Amino acid sequence: MNQKPELILALDVDNFSKAKYFVDKIYPEINFFKVGLQLFTACGPKVIEFIQKKGAQVFLDLKFNDIPNTMVNATKEAIKYKVSLLTVHTLSGPTALKEISRASSKSKTKILGVTLLTSICPHFLKDLGIKRTLSQEVLYLARMAKRCGLDGVVCAAQEAQDIRRHLGKNFLIVSPGIRPKGFFSDDHSRTATIEAAQTAGVNYIVIGRPILKAKNPLMAARKMRKNL
Ligand code: C5P
Repeated sequence: MNQKPELILALDVDNFSKAKYFVDKIYPEINFFKVGLQLFTACGPKVIEFIQKKGAQVFLDLKFNDIPNTMVNATKEAIKYKVSLLTVHTLSGPTALKEISRASSKSKTKILGVTLLTSICPHFLKDLGIKRTLSQEVLYLARMAKRCGLDGVVCAAQEAQDIRRHLGKNFLIVSPGIRPKGFFSDDHSRTATIEAAQTAGVNYIVIGRPILKAKNPLMAARKMRKNL
């Protein structure tokens, strides 16, 4: 049996008070929170500081994708916040990924490479002229991430089993697009249940709307943790 994955709540809200509301309500039922593009753009590093002071960990999900020099400099700034996880796009290429890995090697921040977003569907790869299937492409990007020294990847739970098998037990796998049975998939084209993510060997499950939009977010979080 695989180790239980840890739940990360995606704080996809538009201001500090709402983020504080959810953290106050749900910590310590969940003690890992994701600060993404919307929240970080809206309120900057003060939300990171707030979560860390509370005693919880932060996943800073800014999905950097730029030329190597810009990526490395942005990474150096981000690791100053002492976040536990930080994301960059694997499609930024091996030069950027290797330099980022070198630049972050002395920090405790684990760097994750985003493979293919869970909103991407197989047709899109075809349109781009990519011959590999979606799961082959994700595995290809994950191998590249590992070769370049990254700590892990973000991928859909469907692709996690293959990655775990080929890249070993120490490579981190973070999966969003998790939906309890009977929930809408929203904008994800590849979703999985919590149970499927655990079977696939995922380390961290990222979940947002099923908790944020629940009538009772704490109960929803509790129920999800019970499924693990
Ligand atoms: O609300 P929901 O559970 O769909 O939230 C999913 C979260 O996972 C969002 O914050 C989104 O930015 C993130 N995500 C990701 N990588 C993907 C797909 C979604 O980090 N491939």
